[in-house]
Amino acid sequence: MRAFGLAITMVFALGALAAPAFATDTAKKSAGQELFEKYKCQSCHSIATVGVEKKKAATEDAEEAAADKTEKKAPPDLSAVGVSHKADWMAAFLMKKEKTKEGKLHTKKFKGTDEELKKVTAWLETLKDAKAAEKANAPKK
Ligand code: HEC
Repeated sequence: MRAFGLAITMVFALGALAAPAFATDTAKKSAGQELFEKYKCQSCHSIATVGVEKKKAATEDAEEAAADKTEKKAPPDLSAVGVSHKADWMAAFLMKKEKTKEGKLHTKKFKGTDEELKKVTAWLETLKDAKAAEKANAPKK
């Protein structure tokens, strides 16, 4: 009977360990979105379809501040970026190794690891909400 009691205790102990991990996992944003926010992409881009709002943070980043001043084209909402771009292209673009059709480089070079670049671009490729993008990119009146 003692062994049985011990087994039951073990099952409960394991359950208690696993439960919080499971709970946070389901409530969590995707890893890609976390990275998007970690690298402050939302200081320029919104993603309406997942509720990322563009937040103009008081930037301490000199490169970003300079880019902001010289920027002629407004950074697009990325709700439908997966329709026109593959993850590979985005990864190269974010490393400034690839240009847009108009021959422009991205404003900022990605500062994270290769692994992070893969994750964030793979996530961006899944965004294909053309309606949300159209609405968010429409010029403000
Ligand atoms: C300083 C402002 C700024 C920041 C910060 C920024 N971007 Fe951009 N991004 C732009 C601008 C401006 C464009 C449009 C470039 C063009 O088309 O000439 C752009 C374009 C893009 C595009 C291509 C969109 C398209 O449809 O052509 C992707 C993808 C992108 N950014 C992803 C990111 C990611 C991921 C981050 C964070 C790691 C980020 N951006 C941070 C300004 C910014």
